Amino acid sequence: MDFSGFDTRNYKTLPVADGYAAWSHTYDETVRDLLDLPLLEQIHCVDWSSCERAADLACGTGRTGAWLVQQGVKRIDGIDLTPEMIELARRKEVYDGLHVCDVADTPLESAAYDLCIMVLADEHLKDLTPLYRETARLTRPGGLFVIVGYHPHFMLMGIPPHFHPESGEPLAITSYLHFTSDHVQAAHAAGWSLLEMHEHLIDETCIAAKPKWEKYLNHPISFAMVWRKA
Ligand SMILES: C[S@@+](CC[C@H](N)C(=O)[O-])C[C@H]1O[C@@H](n2cnc3c(N)ncnc32)[C@H](O)[C@@H]1O
Repeated sequence: MDFSGFDTRNYKTLPVADGYAAWSHTYDETVRDLLDLPLLEQIHCVDWSSCERAADLACGTGRTGAWLVQQGVKRIDGIDLTPEMIELARRKEVYDGLHVCDVADTPLESAAYDLCIMVLADEHLKDLTPLYRETARLTRPGGLFVIVGYHPHFMLMGIPPHFHPESGEPLAITSYLHFTSDHVQAAHAAGWSLLEMHEHLIDETCIAAKPKWEKYLNHPISFAMVWRKA
């Protein structure tokens, strides 16, 4: 669903590649770790260190790739739509290969990956079906897909993914609203089964880092799902 009908901020909105090109310089200094790392650390059905090969979709600046290497994942390929984000990922030296492309249509090898992962990007996809289909193509039988996303609850409260440039007004990036059932339907159609799901609520740690979030205490800000391919 198009997000614009829910938008309460009405920030100027940039297309994905333009938005992340503009945000790339300051992206790693912002507080994204608060949204994804607490969820990744709760996941118990993934034995990260036994994962030989992973594909990090919408890898951005390589934050997730760096985390995967720390967990013992051996080899990682990354893809992202935004060249400026990929260039920063390249500098982290954690990826075997990096490609500028769409998550729906990657040049990566079929059935070659133990794990696909995509963190904080599904809200930029108009349709989830091609994502789940492409991850099913890349993953070996019995392999896993971990998806971490910005919670639809925050989108419904009218708050789009946005950033504060060094000067000027905040800028939003084109976004779509996906309900949990949209994920389930797209994943099932591609042959995925749900193994695990978590939701992360705004807690005191988030508020210490972002005091403006105090009014959102206990609201869900992000989610994680782990899917297994039959
Ligand atoms: C919020 S960032 C997340 C980056 C990284 N996964 C992380 O957690 O730090 C969203 C990323 O998704 C990428 N992206 C959005 N839509 C995409 C698409 N259709 N195909 C590939 N990458 C996409 C953007 O370029 C951006 O780098």
